[in-house]
Amino acid sequence: MTEGITGKVVAITGASSGLGAETARHLVAAGAKVVLGARRVDRLEALADELGRENAAPFQLDVTDAAQLRAFTAFAVETFGKIDVMINNAGLMPLSPLEMGRVEEWDQAIDVNIKGVLYGIHAALPYFREQRSGHFINVSSVAGHVISPGGAVYSATKYAVRALTEAFRKEAKPYNIRNTILSPGAVDTELPQSVKAPGVSEFVAKFYEDAAISASSFARCVVFALSQPEDMDVNEILFRPTSQEL
Ligand SMILES: NC(=O)c1ccc[n+]([C@@H]2O[C@H](COP(=O)([O-])OP(=O)(O)OC[C@H]3O[C@@H](n4cnc5c(N)ncnc54)[C@H](OP(=O)(O)O)[C@@H]3O)[C@@H](O)[C@H]2O)c1
Repeated sequence: MTEGITGKVVAITGASSGLGAETARHLVAAGAKVVLGARRVDRLEALADELGRENAAPFQLDVTDAAQLRAFTAFAVETFGKIDVMINNAGLMPLSPLEMGRVEEWDQAIDVNIKGVLYGIHAALPYFREQRSGHFINVSSVAGHVISPGGAVYSATKYAVRALTEAFRKEAKPYNIRNTILSPGAVDTELPQSVKAPGVSEFVAKFYEDAAISASSFARCVVFALSQPEDMDVNEILFRPTSQEL
């Protein structure tokens, strides 16, 4: 299962908690080098210590700033000599009905969940194009397939991740670049804390308490996609907890 991962350099956004942090652990165990990006650099430093500085390098990063993402991929190349994989994972889930008018949250979700992914592609593409290989894993969601009340903006961002990844998959054909859309259901992370709307946050916390499964579920999907031979492009993975109906 870990074949093809040893020696790969993987840049992960949103690596300070949840899915990104757990994926870093699985990838280092499989022999990869990881570059960890997020705003909470103290968390990244602690994770890099845990994984060993020879395997993991922290980088303070706000994905809403394209220049910071370009500096992130440049840092990966400076530190480990190359970049093979970019995991555009950073995200927020500020669920609320539109009539609540939580405009700042809409802007933030669009900036992080959509623009952050676009900027991540933009930042890694020059290296992938030059080396005629590379792999993007862009994180969508069950909410990128299923729409619920309160999920207008979040689902819109996660549908957008699927749309832009599928267009890019076709555009990237001349460069031998692989593209995976990874869409999890409820997984136990800090994500429900990004739901701040009164009434909604309690509902979501209970839903996660009842249904969420461990973050290793997601990390195992990443390991699967990355360990396939060069001529196989795993384009989409959608998974849910067995108990999740939505
Ligand atoms: N957990 C689930 O049930 C689930 C289901 C479907 C999809 N997803 C998706 O999975 C991805 C990861 O979420 P998670 O579940 O692991 O939640 P999480 O534990 O809350 O992690 C979110 C990560 O995103 C980072 N982040 C947020 N804003 C950022 C910014 N402006 N710049 C850089 N990093 C930023 C956070 O780091 P800092 O705050 O330190 O910057 C954190 O590391 C998200 O895209 C989410 O939509 C999760």
